Amino acid sequence: MIFGVDYYPEHWDKSEWKKQARIMRDGNFNTVRIAEFAWCRLEPEEDTFDFSWLDEIIDILAAEGIGVILGTPTAAPPKWLVNKYDVYMRDKYGRQRGYGSRRECCANNSYYIARSKVIVEQLAKRYGKNPNVIAWQIDNEFGCHQSTRCYCEHCGREFAYWLEKKYKSIDRLNKIYGTVFWSQEYSSFDDVILPAYTSCEGDYGKLQAHNPSLEMDFYRFSSDSWVRYQQMQIDIIRKYSDYPITHNMMGHFSDIDYRKLGEPLDITAWDNYIDNQWDCSDFENISMAHELMRGVKNKNFWVMEQQSGPCGWDRFGGTPRPGQLRLWTYQSIAHGCEGLLYFRFRSAPFGMEQYWLGVVDHDGVPRRRYYEIKQTGEELKKLSDIFVGAKNSTDVLLVKSYEEVWCHEIKCHTEGFDYRNTLYSYYRANNHLGTNPVCGGEDMIGGEYKVIYMPAYSMVSAEVEKRLEEYVQNGGTLVLTYLSGTRDVNNNIVTSAIPGRLRKLAGTSVAEFDSSRGDVELGNGFGVSKLWRDILEPETADIRVCYNGEYYKDSAAVTVNTYGKGRVWYVGCDLEESALLKLVKIISDEAGAGYISHPDGTEIIKRSVNGREYFMLLNYMRNAIDMGIRGKSLLSEKCFDGILDGYGVEIIDASK
Ligand code: GAL
Repeated sequence: MIFGVDYYPEHWDKSEWKKQARIMRDGNFNTVRIAEFAWCRLEPEEDTFDFSWLDEIIDILAAEGIGVILGTPTAAPPKWLVNKYDVYMRDKYGRQRGYGSRRECCANNSYYIARSKVIVEQLAKRYGKNPNVIAWQIDNEFGCHQSTRCYCEHCGREFAYWLEKKYKSIDRLNKIYGTVFWSQEYSSFDDVILPAYTSCEGDYGKLQAHNPSLEMDFYRFSSDSWVRYQQMQIDIIRKYSDYPITHNMMGHFSDIDYRKLGEPLDITAWDNYIDNQWDCSDFENISMAHELMRGVKNKNFWVMEQQSGPCGWDRFGGTPRPGQLRLWTYQSIAHGCEGLLYFRFRSAPFGMEQYWLGVVDHDGVPRRRYYEIKQTGEELKKLSDIFVGAKNSTDVLLVKSYEEVWCHEIKCHTEGFDYRNTLYSYYRANNHLGTNPVCGGEDMIGGEYKVIYMPAYSMVSAEVEKRLEEYVQNGGTLVLTYLSGTRDVNNNIVTSAIPGRLRKLAGTSVAEFDSSRGDVELGNGFGVSKLWRDILEPETADIRVCYNGEYYKDSAAVTVNTYGKGRVWYVGCDLEESALLKLVKIISDEAGAGYISHPDGTEIIKRSVNGREYFMLLNYMRNAIDMGIRGKSLLSEKCFDGILDGYGVEIIDASK
């Protein structure tokens, strides 16, 4: 199993390299990722290249048995490049992104593309068959620092081509967008604007004042632009190298459609920071991020950067407690990671990330964090056979659509509604119950899952409608909510009764809705709704929960419909945490979906590999917990008595 660190040899004097490589080897690391920010050292002047240092460090690492994942350095252009060419993005106010950080270049900028091609080709040619290189990482975290959407001239031109390819005729675009509204009809594709700063926006703060179909296409186009930019690099590398190609994604990040970005990659990778300056995530939030990354290709993945110390940019987040670095490593593995690198090897004394601590401190001395990681590496050596290629068993799929994220961002419907939080609340309830759902796309809809959740999935295409119908017809349980089926794929509101294309499946329609502020009580002990209430008119569906207040008291809030061999739930309102958990349990029980009961603050994940089954037990709490499960420990080879230490991990053989 790949077990390594992210390493920046260019930050250190050459005299340190051998010593550093030895510390890595002693720490059980077998892989490093390098060079993804080294453009200025690889091409110090235009068309003048220096690979001598990279050759040298690759050899030094190889001598210690350490393989290299080579990053293409295009996330941070050298100064000569920006001096000569205007490659900068423009924001929606027309402001240029300045130099001094990174990710300032536009994916559609022809100069940036041309220079990227040159450096990538040079690297691929030189290292494409190098036996010490094991894989490629394209660029670094596309979209990071809000760099997905750009409003420059290059984008303007490319957007016109993109639209022309999609709509063929401008009349068609005008009709679909409804540009007759506010007299906006366009005369040609070149005439279509980028949805930049416009009059009304200033009045209302964050409001997006553009045509919603235009805005949606611009989000799609911006995402596609990075997919295309990545493809350019993949095509070049593939001319010279057969090594796996990946890109380091960012978990919950949603400005780029990760399924499209992941499609041409051999393996998904992502960067996992649990507790940093900006956020101390709940463990379920990190588990969901892993599950999203597993869902990118419906396959196991790598973690390219895993937190290894306290970290932040101008202030620190929390210091990982003894045991947490090991615990987080096993959490990654339990959810499908089969190769993991810690960010970064040695903490940098200079540069923006002085406060992003690595495996060893600024002085290069191995201390507590290093030794904990080293011990973890020792364990993984023994267990790698059961981790690589392992499958997580689950009966539940939670669908996240990137286009839905954009749709709900363009109009958030009511104060306080957030599509991603809604998904998270469904994930959390499932995680709590122990169904351990995978988070994937529409392409994963199928009989493999007993229950599929599609909260607030609004823009339903004919294809998705068909897939869902087939799925339910054949016995699946589908869960829809308020806002499901309300729009067409052009981001226009459906002109049929809500939930539009899903009405027949749901067996109910929405007579009206109430998104007024204030709590409305629900019947059957389901607490209150705070955000949104669909007042349902069941057609063939049975009523499960009614409203217990307001002018729609006794109207249906939650229904279930039998359709073919399957069933469709329609949850017409938001639910509090405990009510959602109660509902998810009812849904799972009625659908026969399996779950593993486990104490709060823990996870138990069932996995299988080559006919062997095992449970991974993770305790995120500081105190010891009785996990209610005993068996032979694959870690200690002793009998595990059920009590798991604070921040502890166990792996139990399930075949005995
Ligand atoms: C990641 C990024 C790394 C480094 C790290 C710490 O998002 O890929 O290059 O910047 O964060 O900030």
